[in-house]
Amino acid sequence: MKITFCCTDTKAEPWLQGLAAALPQADISVWQPGAPQSDYAVVWAPPQQFIDEQPALRALCNIGAGVDGLLRLRLPPSMRVVRLDDAGMAVQMAEYVSHALIRHFRELDQYEAQMRAGRWGYLKPPRRQDFPVGVMGLGVLGERVARTVAQFDFPVLGWSRSPKAVAGVRTYSGAEGFGEFLAATRVLVNLLPLTPETHGIMRRDTLARLKPGAYVINVARGAHLVEEDLLALIEEGHVAGATLDVFRTEPLPAGHPFWNHPKITITPHTSARTLRDESIAQIAGKIAAMERGEAVAGAVDTARGY
Ligand code: NAP
Ligand code: GLV
Repeated sequence: MKITFCCTDTKAEPWLQGLAAALPQADISVWQPGAPQSDYAVVWAPPQQFIDEQPALRALCNIGAGVDGLLRLRLPPSMRVVRLDDAGMAVQMAEYVSHALIRHFRELDQYEAQMRAGRWGYLKPPRRQDFPVGVMGLGVLGERVARTVAQFDFPVLGWSRSPKAVAGVRTYSGAEGFGEFLAATRVLVNLLPLTPETHGIMRRDTLARLKPGAYVINVARGAHLVEEDLLALIEEGHVAGATLDVFRTEPLPAGHPFWNHPKITITPHTSARTLRDESIAQIAGKIAAMERGEAVAGAVDTARGY
């Protein structure tokens, strides 16, 4: 079995060693233009030339959870795409979102500013029930985040495409449930995949429906958010601030208003990193299962976009 590795911005050697150890029968190499046809590919942001030269792959194994970049390429219609399914990302997302939420809710920035100014003083404690947290996307990552936040006794709401039941979470689904979900939410967490349906979903008319004093945590994709609309709603006072891990253009360009905004915290697309060992073990397991003709978790519906 031949496996080709084509991952932009990724050091290949440790992946090749890990995959070779997990799949000793496989012949694994880094893709070069003109290379012979492989059986499987391990990819992140491959060029279109790679897809065009490898039309008979049994599967493209993406070393990330999101496949929006991959699906922007012209893929053969029957190409099987398999993505990472947790592989250590869900706990990272849960800790990142919990941190952003608690930092905002407990006003830790204000306490830090007081501390730096040498001031000992109390702020009026906020009421947890005034901070309902709405999680958009209740998949592998969103469900874990919603369950984790519920452990801190916040009211938690969740929104997905199909109806879902999650213990401790009030759930909504589809276009018909979206308005009610937004109206009941103060802290909005985005964990949707980027698809034609969700592109620009956080824009003036949707963010304006959140409870006053809303807070936005975007950990999915930059293109979910209309950045100018967020800035305007913060300026107008309807939105109190945001923690943003993903941006329309990455790296965030110099001079972008998010860099120095006092109400916006940014991180460089790092809320849930691909963990190499966990990902190699998962991908090797999936390739072995596909070779046995078994179904695998994380199979992408390319028509649906996630
Ligand atoms: P997932 O398991 O596929 O879950 C996607 C969820 O979104 C599902 O609940 C799905 O609904 C829902 N959804 C999809 N389209 C929808 C729509 N039009 N309306 C309402 N709900 C919709 O994905 P995941 O593994 O949780 O990952 C989510 C995203 O996180 C990825 O696509 C990626 O963009 C992002 N991500 C970011 C980082 C980072 O470091 N910033 C790291 C990893 C992933 P159903 O349940 O009904 O299908
Ligand atoms: C990272 O953003 C991923 O999709 O895994």
